[in-house]
Amino acid sequence: MQNRREFLKGTAWMGAAAAFAGCVAPAAKLGGTGTMSGFAAPPLKKVRVGVVGLGMRGPGAVHRLAAIPGVEVAALCDLYPARVDAQQKWLKDNGKPEARPYSGEEGWKAMCESDLDLVYIVTPWALHTPIALYAMEHGKHAAIEVPSAMNLEECWACVETSERTGRHCMQLENCCYGEIEMLTLNLVRNGKLGELVHGEGAYIHDLRDLNYLDPAKGGYQDYWRLKWNRDHFGNPYPTHGLVPLMQAMNINRGDRFDYLTCVSTAQIGMDEYAKVKFGEDSWQAKLHPKCGDMSTTVIRTVNGKTVMIQHDVTSARPYSRINLLSGTQGCLNDYPFRIALAEKPGDPAHGWADDKTRGEIIETWRHPLWKVAGELAKKMGGHGGMDFLMDLRLCYCLQNGLPLDMDVYDLATSCSLTELCERSALNRGASQDVPDFTRGGWETAKPLGIETVDLEKLGLSDSDVKKDDSQLNV
Ligand SMILES: NC(=O)c1ccc[n+]([C@@H]2O[C@H](COP(=O)([O-])OP(=O)(O)OC[C@H]3O[C@@H](n4cnc5c(N)ncnc54)[C@H](O)[C@@H]3O)[C@@H](O)[C@H]2O)c1
Repeated sequence: MQNRREFLKGTAWMGAAAAFAGCVAPAAKLGGTGTMSGFAAPPLKKVRVGVVGLGMRGPGAVHRLAAIPGVEVAALCDLYPARVDAQQKWLKDNGKPEARPYSGEEGWKAMCESDLDLVYIVTPWALHTPIALYAMEHGKHAAIEVPSAMNLEECWACVETSERTGRHCMQLENCCYGEIEMLTLNLVRNGKLGELVHGEGAYIHDLRDLNYLDPAKGGYQDYWRLKWNRDHFGNPYPTHGLVPLMQAMNINRGDRFDYLTCVSTAQIGMDEYAKVKFGEDSWQAKLHPKCGDMSTTVIRTVNGKTVMIQHDVTSARPYSRINLLSGTQGCLNDYPFRIALAEKPGDPAHGWADDKTRGEIIETWRHPLWKVAGELAKKMGGHGGMDFLMDLRLCYCLQNGLPLDMDVYDLATSCSLTELCERSALNRGASQDVPDFTRGGWETAKPLGIETVDLEKLGLSDSDVKKDDSQLNV
C-alpha cells in the first residue's frame, strides 16, 4: 500500500496541475494562428528532420524516415554520443547525407535551434513535451512519441504553443495505421457498423522483462519506464488503444469526451516477478511500484457514447489492444479479428462471420492507404508496417501542405487520461471531467476522412524500401 508521502514523491506535477483541476483552460488563449483543427502548413519541398532519442525505438524511425523521398534526416541527437555515431554510420552505409550530431543532456536545444523543419521525439516520456515546446518555439513542427504529454499542464502547453506558433504538434500514434484499425475506419466511414455506440481499446503487453532489463544490457535508459511505474497509479500509457477509437468515433470532430472514471487493481505482478528473478533481498524486489497491474477506464462522450480503455503491462497474458467497436448494425473485435454485421438495419448480428466472409470483408474494405503502400510497409517492418505508414503519411502531408491526420487536440485529449485516470483511480473511481482542448472547436471540426498517399508523386518505389531488422515488431 502506498502512503500519502510516497505518493506525493512521484507526483510533484500534480501541484501545478491542480490549477487546472476544474479543467479550465489556462489564461493564455488562442494566439495569432487560431485553431489547429484542419490546419495545414505551407508545403515543404524537402522535409529536414532531426531525430532525438536513439534507444530501442529511435533508430527504426531514422531508417523509416530516411527511406522516404524528399525527406532528409538532417540531425541526430541522443544523450550518448555513441548512439548518435551508430546512426550516423547507418546513414553513411546506406548512401544518405551526413546528419548534424548532437549529444549530452541538453544537446536537443541546439538541435531545435538549428535549420530543420521537423523535430521527431523518441526520448523517455518526461522529455517529450519539453522538447516539443522548445522545437515549436524555434519554428519547427514537432512529432512526438506516445504518450506525448504526461499531465494536463503539458497537454495545455502543447495546445497553446501549437496554436500560438502555428506549428504542427502531432502525436506519433502508430496504431492508427494498423491494418485492422484502418480497416475499421473504412468500415465505419462506409456505414457498415451503423451508428457507433461503444468502443474498447487497451494496451495489454507483458513488459516485465523489459522494465527490469539492465540499461547496460539494452534496457530502457536509466530504468525510466520502471521508475514511472514506481511513482504513478492509473493508466500511464493510454493512447495505443484509444486514438484509433477516437478517430472512428469522431472525438473532437463532432463529439467529445465528457467525463471518465478509472479503477485500478493492486500491484501484484511486478513484485512477484522481481522476487522470482532477482531474489527477495534485491533492490528490484524492494521497489514496490505503485502502478496497479490492471487499470480500467470508462469514458462517456457528450453525445452519449462510451469507451472502455485498459492498461496492463505486468500480467502473463497475450498482447492485445482489444480494438472493439460496436454500433447499431454491427460489431468488430480484434485479437483475433472477428466481425459480425447485420444484413440490414434492424436485423440482429448474433454470430461472428465465418472465415470466408471475414476474409472477403477484409479484402473489400481494406483501407486505401494499406492498398497503396501496405506491401512496402510490411517489407520494411515496424509493428507489421504501421510505423512506416504513419511516417509516410506525416511526411506526405508536410510535403503537400495538407492537414495532418492527428492534430494537437487529439494529442492533448488522449494524453489527458494519464493524469485524469490517476486522479480517479486514487479516489475510488471518482468521475473526472475531460477538458475540451478544442474550446468548442469540436462542434464544427471535420472528421478524419479516408486518406492515402500518391506513391508516384512521392517518387517512392519498392526498391527504396528494404527489410530493416532494427524495427520494433512487438
Ligand atoms: N509507438 C510505439 O509503438 C512505441 C514503441 C516503443 C517505444 N515507444 C516510445 O518511444 C520512446 C522511447 O522509448 P525507447 O523504448 O526507445 O526507450 P529507450 O530508453 O530505449 O530510448 C530512449 C533514448 O532517449 C535517450 N535520451 C535520454 N535522455 C536524453 C536527452 N536528454 N537528450 C537526448 N536523448 C536522450 C536515451 O539515451 C535513449 O537512447 C518512449 O516514449 C516510448 O513510449 C513507442
